[in-house]
Amino acid sequence: LKALGCERPDLAVSSHPHPDHLLGLVSVIREVGPKLLVLPESFKGDERYGPLLLAASEGGVPVRWVGPGAYELPECPGISIFSSPGPGENDKSLMVVAESGGEAVLVSGDVESRGQENILSLLPEGDFLAATAPHHGLPDAFLRAFWEKVRPRKILVSSQNGGKSPCAELRGIAGEQSASIFTTGEVGYILAEFGGTDAEPKAAR
Ligand SMILES: [Fe+2]
Repeated sequence: LKALGCERPDLAVSSHPHPDHLLGLVSVIREVGPKLLVLPESFKGDERYGPLLLAASEGGVPVRWVGPGAYELPECPGISIFSSPGPGENDKSLMVVAESGGEAVLVSGDVESRGQENILSLLPEGDFLAATAPHHGLPDAFLRAFWEKVRPRKILVSSQNGGKSPCAELRGIAGEQSASIFTTGEVGYILAEFGGTDAEPKAAR
């Protein structure tokens, strides 16, 4: 983040308290304290958030608990947050939509297919610039109606699951929609730049 010139981000979000969505964030809070930390209300009081809340408290970072439902953040124009009441822990992940100048990106946490069904009516209709694949693009998180609604042009898959993701169904619909799939094993991350004439996500290590 510092290398990208991101010294004090407007916002940090932990989708849910699973290690791969939480542990690195403690360093982010300590190193580049954001102006606001948003956490999922479904996990309020969960001891797994202890170290993150301690870091926020010590760094003077305000914390907001959000969800379930659809929310906008007055401090962060263009940011919307969506979350399902369940049924599973992954399904309670916060999904974040960042929109600017008619372009939007979606960061989808680990919401599995039943959670996606529960919040599908709340989500904005695509043509998203880019989206992360829910729950690492695994089969338990594939819901055709979700992808038909958001229709991202670029899909980033956090591919830590020994080659099982993205699943064949996701590869299939990406092909149908002419979307490109990037995996973190290949590219690391996508930088989505809004505005100007070149609003393209950039894959980089
Ligand atoms: Fe995960």
